[in-house]
Amino acid sequence: MASISERTFIAIKPDGVQRGLVGEIIRRFEQKGFKLVAMKLTHASEDLLREHYIDLKDRPFYDGLVHYMHSGPVVAMVWEGLNVIKTGRVMLGETNPMDSKPGTIRGDLCVQVGRNIIHGSDSLESAEAEINLWFTPEELVEYRSCAHEWIYE
Ligand code: RTP
Ligand code: MG
Repeated sequence: MASISERTFIAIKPDGVQRGLVGEIIRRFEQKGFKLVAMKLTHASEDLLREHYIDLKDRPFYDGLVHYMHSGPVVAMVWEGLNVIKTGRVMLGETNPMDSKPGTIRGDLCVQVGRNIIHGSDSLESAEAEINLWFTPEELVEYRSCAHEWIYE
């Protein structure tokens, strides 16, 4: 069932950080009306990144993907809101920026699949697993947004 407290894991990849796109990406989630629950700039370990993308371990690009994600800091975030997992993926665009529509993050801000600047959880199960992998429970901040009543009826 759809819940307004649904949460997703979003990460700005090292290319997004290096290219100065952190503010632009956060702006889109804020302006949509989603609530920021956790955020940190972190240089993730290779072990964490291998675990994060474990479902892709047999793909030919797996090692290169882990190397890319380990090449600099990432901005790891948890965002909350109604249908945030699915809507977040729509906001990201397709995996390959070439297939991403204008108006999406990947459609507007990047060119190649191996430098596609942002990650978003693709299901409730992956969102829960990724949030637990990247954050401790204490890092998930409890507060009520003063805009809540203006975003939800
Ligand atoms: P993400 O997990 O990063 O949000 O991306 P996604 O769900 O849209 O795509 P996924 O299949 O999970 O792939 C994870 C990341 O691997 C890189 N990739 N490279 N060279 C290639 O053909 C290829 N395919 C995927 C991309 O960085 C993709 O986001
Ligand atoms: Mg994925």
